Parts: sequence; structure tokens; C-alpha cells
Amino acid sequence: MERLASEGGSPVRRDRFPEGVTGPEITAEDADAVAEVVRSRNLWRHGGRRVADLEAAWAALHGRPAAQVTASTSGTAAIHLAVGAVDPEPGDEIIVAPITDFGSVIPILAQNAIPVFADVDAETFCLDPAAVERAITPRTRAIVAVHLFGQPCDVRALAQLARARGLALIEDCAQAPLADVDGQPMGTFGDFGCFSLQQSKHITAGEGGLTLAADAGRASRMRLFADKGWPREGQVRTHLHFGLNYRLTEMQGAVALAQVPRLAGIVRRRQERAARLDRWLADLPGVRLPRPPAGARSAYWMYPCLVDPAVLGVDASGFAEAVRAEGVPLASGYVPPLYTVPALAERRTYGASGFPFGAPQARPQPAYAPGLCPRAESMAARLVYVPWSQGYTDRDVDDLGRAIGKVARALAARAG
Ligand SMILES: Cc1ncc(COP(=O)(O)O)c(C=O)c1O
Repeated sequence: MERLASEGGSPVRRDRFPEGVTGPEITAEDADAVAEVVRSRNLWRHGGRRVADLEAAWAALHGRPAAQVTASTSGTAAIHLAVGAVDPEPGDEIIVAPITDFGSVIPILAQNAIPVFADVDAETFCLDPAAVERAITPRTRAIVAVHLFGQPCDVRALAQLARARGLALIEDCAQAPLADVDGQPMGTFGDFGCFSLQQSKHITAGEGGLTLAADAGRASRMRLFADKGWPREGQVRTHLHFGLNYRLTEMQGAVALAQVPRLAGIVRRRQERAARLDRWLADLPGVRLPRPPAGARSAYWMYPCLVDPAVLGVDASGFAEAVRAEGVPLASGYVPPLYTVPALAERRTYGASGFPFGAPQARPQPAYAPGLCPRAESMAARLVYVPWSQGYTDRDVDDLGRAIGKVARALAARAG
């Protein structure tokens, strides 16, 4: 058995691993598109075309009319548009995945609704439809389903459940643009699909968001929500309902628009790179890959797997550290289950009120405390992930495979 680099052996990779390639692909043409906007001196969406063209391009990519996409300032805002369009009463409940970016949860609280966490499925790492069904109450209005790390959740089952129970399905596709099930892209199964253009995502404007609505009524409501409730087409200025200013600038619109034609290629290359690593990691002791729902293809924001401390004798952080010592990247500890973070566990919301928790409008809720979603807690403790890139060469991927394999086999042999 080869000696591990963390214990003085020689590392799998001696020269620097190209972590720089995990950054976005920004070209000279993208820069020119932004410069052109700046030179035009109109930086505002309502005076220009770039944001509107971005919305139309996103709609076309997903087979929807242009009027059913609204751009906004972040992925969090994109989800807020959807929640705003659902228009919950204070104290209504919205079911959400516990392992995700906090941006999936903030919009629920911002609309004074209660995030109800349902457990994940041990195979997909995403919301378990059976757990969602158990979490539904007469106050439930919507489900926020996250396609974690780019992999589709069991979106067909969730869409069916949402329809049967009269709930809105909000797909959080921040990590999963053009991930698909049987060729149908994420964001088109539910009532809303929400995307992020933040720096780490497949294409980026630094910050930004896009929301896709399945019907014209909700599309119009979310568009108003992003623009102070202000119907621009009217003769008289008015504000029809509560909304925010979530307008994307023309500079952001231009740089994102320039990247849209490249997105499908980026996703394809990420999938092809991941298939190569899959072959290295199949059947390793103590390392388990997610098992996607039938027909699902991930967009690979990250490449996740679970490690088993009982087989390897170390936890996720110890495993990731030993793999990094081999000269390749591997991270652990993406997020804790979000109900354990202080903002939620201690109900730090609006002043000292704790609102909307405990408000007369709300049903009593179980404490946000360890034990709420046992499978998510176990997953969070065992999760490791490779920051993924379409730019990895065959050699990069093979070194990742060799390093993870070397560490898993050595640790399992010792622990066994
Ligand atoms: C799954 C998920 N949801 C929501 C968000 C929020 O997006 P943003 O950071 O653009 O507000 C992110 C971004 O990190 C995310 O990964």
C-alpha cells in the first residue's frame, strides 16, 4: 500500500493543480459588450435592451415566452420574486431543503412566511418527496426544491405532489442551469425556476438572478415584485402591491447575455469531465456518489460524494485533508443544516420579535434543533466535494481520481 502524502509519502500531484480554471470564462467580447453599455451612458434596464435581451435569451433556452423571465440582482432575489409572486400570508409555511445556500431560505422569511425543513433523500442528496409530503399542513403554500451541486432532485415526483396538493413548486436552480431530466431543463418542471449569476456559477455577472415562471399571471406578478410593484406600461404612475427594487443593470445584463450562448457547452464539458472521474471513484471503499433520479443529468456546479467514517476511520474533514495533501483540491463542510445556524435557531429575524415564528398568525413549530432532519445531518457530516471546472484536463481529472482512490484504499485497509 502506497504511503499517504499526509504521512510523509510522495503526493499524487507534484506540480500545482490549476484551481484558477474553476473561475468563470470571461472573454474579450464579454468585456466589449460591457464597455459598449458604459459608452452608451445608459446603464439602466428601462433605458436599454441588454437586460431585456438577456431575459429573452434565457426564455428561449428554456422554451418559454420572453415575458415569462425576469432578471434580478441575485439568486436570492430570483427566489424572492417567486415567493413574492406566490404572495403568502404572514405565518404561511414554505417547505425547503435543509442543505443549501441561505439564499434559498431568506426570501421565505422576508415575506414573513415560515421555512419548514423537510429531510433529504440519501441517494439524491436533495429533498425527499415523501418527507415533503409529511411536512405539508393546511398552511403550506409552496415548496422550494434545490438541485444541489447541479444535480436534479426528484423533480417529477415533487411537481406531481405540488400539483396534487395545490402548492407552488419553486425550483432553486442556482447551481443547476441546464441540468435536465430526459432532456427537459431544470426550472421548467415547477411553477418557477430560479437561477443565480453570482461569481462562482456556470455563467456570471458577478451578481445577478433570473426567474422563469410557468404562467403569464405569475410572470407578471413577479416582474412587478422586482420593480416596486410599478406597472411601467400604464399612463399614470402607480404601485400595485409591495415589491422591491431588484433591477439588474445594463452592464450586468450585457456581460451575462454575452455568455448565454456558451452555457450549453460549459455544462456539457463539466458533465464529460465528471463522467471521467465517476469511473475512477466507482466501487471505492467508504466513498459513495449520489444516485440521480432516472434520466437526470447534473450540471456539476460541484462534484460531491459522501465518505463513510465507519469504513475509513476518519471524518469528512480528515479525509479531505489527506486528499489535499496528495496535491488536488477536495473540500468538506459545505453548510450545516440551515436550521442550526443562529439566524434561524435563535430566530434572529425582526428586532427581538422573533417574527414570524410565534406570531398569532403562525402555527406552533418544532424547534430548529439537531434531530429535525437526521438524513441531512448525517449527509452534512459526511459530505466532501471537488470544486468543479470545465477546464480540467484529462490529467487533472485522473490525478483527482488517483488521489481520492489512494486515500480511500489506504484508510479503509487500515481501518478494516
Ligand atoms: C442553491 C443556491 N440557492 C440560492 C443561492 C443564492 O444565490 P445568490 O448568491 O446569487 O444570491 C445560491 C448561491 O450561492 C445557491 O447556491
